[in-house]
Amino acid sequence: MDDAPIGIFDSGVGGLTVARAIRAQLPQESLVYIGDTAHSPYGPKPIADVRRYSIEVLDALVDQGVKMLVIACNTASAAVLRDARERYDVPVVEVIGPAVRRAVSTTRNGRVGVIGTVGTIGSRVYQDMLEVNERLEVFTAACPRFVEFVEAGITGSPEVLAVAEEYLAPLRDARVDTLVLGCTHYPFLRGAISYVMGEGVSLVSSDDETAADVYRQLVKHDQLASPGAVASYVYEATGDSAEDFTALANRLMGHEVRDVQLVQTGVIDLPYLLAAEADEVGRDGTVQP
Ligand code: DGL
Repeated sequence: MDDAPIGIFDSGVGGLTVARAIRAQLPQESLVYIGDTAHSPYGPKPIADVRRYSIEVLDALVDQGVKMLVIACNTASAAVLRDARERYDVPVVEVIGPAVRRAVSTTRNGRVGVIGTVGTIGSRVYQDMLEVNERLEVFTAACPRFVEFVEAGITGSPEVLAVAEEYLAPLRDARVDTLVLGCTHYPFLRGAISYVMGEGVSLVSSDDETAADVYRQLVKHDQLASPGAVASYVYEATGDSAEDFTALANRLMGHEVRDVQLVQTGVIDLPYLLAAEADEVGRDGTVQP
């Protein structure tokens, strides 16, 4: 049993979909959520920058005493997963593996589509993980404007449908029967995406799958909160406006996000991390021999 909070991180508000799914599946667990609004969006940024921002936020969560880290951002998961598992003593859950496992068990015709940010699709992480299974054919599309719509609080306009049609037509033409929503923001556009793809296409969303993985990991590490634990929820953002974060979160999620605190990450001035040197930098910023 362990009543410490679970640390959840995303570039902004999108990871709240994962936080909500964890709250639903594990109501006795306390959560600390950080949205790295100072650096969002991650999707169009070079993967090396995303790695550095992600590690800074994950460090901040570990400093707050979390028992588990959840990287609730596809772009960050693509950038930092292996480093995070090596760097931290607490278990690390990310969003890509759970969605991949669900897609593999869902597809009937072996044709799987994946949509995500430019960073996630460019990293080819979904293709690499799915194509381990030789019976699968994978088709991908980056959908950068989807994040813009969600961040603007627009989820149902005719413009969303028109853009969805443009992005998704190649995947529909490829006759995928399963589509992975490989970005935290896309569950907010589920209606438009499902409408364009048609009812026969199963949508796999990271939020529920990741929450189920969190459950599994907590059981495995004997870390479930005690049965009488009263959960607390802390929301933090790194940008300069708690009000903006709260307003967008409430618009998208209902009124479950309150009292957003502003935090600073990267207080320890980490050397700029390149892929090759990252493993040698300790959490105190010193470079290990
Ligand atoms: N959270 C990001 C993801 O899931 C989308 C938003 C962004 O680009 O920062 O990939």
